[in-house]
Amino acid sequence: MKIGIIGGGSIGLLFSYYLSMGSDVSIYTRTREQADSINENGLHLVKSGIEHTPAKVTAVPIQEWKGNDDLTVVAVKQYQLDGLISDLKDKAKGSILFLQNGYGHIKLLSELETSEVYVGSVEHGAVRKNGFTVQHNGLGVTRTAIFKGEDDLLRELSTISPSGFPFIIEPDFKEMLIKKLVVNSVINPLTAILKVKNGELIHNPSYFEIFKQMFDECAYVLDLPNREQYFKNLMTVCEKTANNHSSMYKDIENGRQTEIDAILGYLLELSRRKNIKAPLIHNYYHCIKGKEHEREGA
Ligand code: PAF
Repeated sequence: MKIGIIGGGSIGLLFSYYLSMGSDVSIYTRTREQADSINENGLHLVKSGIEHTPAKVTAVPIQEWKGNDDLTVVAVKQYQLDGLISDLKDKAKGSILFLQNGYGHIKLLSELETSEVYVGSVEHGAVRKNGFTVQHNGLGVTRTAIFKGEDDLLRELSTISPSGFPFIIEPDFKEMLIKKLVVNSVINPLTAILKVKNGELIHNPSYFEIFKQMFDECAYVLDLPNREQYFKNLMTVCEKTANNHSSMYKDIENGRQTEIDAILGYLLELSRRKNIKAPLIHNYYHCIKGKEHEREGA
């Protein structure tokens, strides 16, 4: 299978490294410099402090993307999708797998004419060390589900993927994405504003109060059918990643744009449409936007 991966961030590099073990992988980067550095150095992976044999992939600047791959994995942030979607609409010939957090991108996917569109939820921890090196921290899984079409390529993906990089096919894309949205809505903004590791949210009794209330608001706005199940999942993720800093914490610390619009922005919009009061969602959304504004002003 020919796989094209769009995005040279941590997830794009991680997927390119592992999938190149069983497939012909091309990675499409925003800058020509990054493509050149991957072609010169190979793609490097650091896991448990060990640097693994560099992988051979073809790196190409995104401007030269032709959409010829059997499967295109879109590994950019949700806020970068708008600029890409018309290219995907015009050029993609094969199937597409979207790996964005949140739920706001789902409305864009209906515009695509490709017969197979998939969505995924990544549970790996990864950090980009430089343009051609990724560090694989939290070993997890990638959950995938059909948005439209048949699941043939998803099944192929789960057979060709190497051990240590598993894919799971979930029956319901909505449930899969909403589960992740709940986790990201509670853990990410709270850890970024309180400046704590994920585990502190459940180990510090005062923070745990906010954590529970934030969950309640999300569950109400999303009208979750099975609240206990979602809360249990949230607690499990928080315990498993207790020693990690969330991606939003790291984005704020490093002065980068966050995914707040895709996460709480989506819930805020939903609460307005449903005419529901959601003060914590509203306030944490604006706290994070305020932090982003500070960075822009600096
Ligand atoms: O965004 C993140 O950091 C992760 O999705 C999660 C699960 C919240 C753990 O840090």
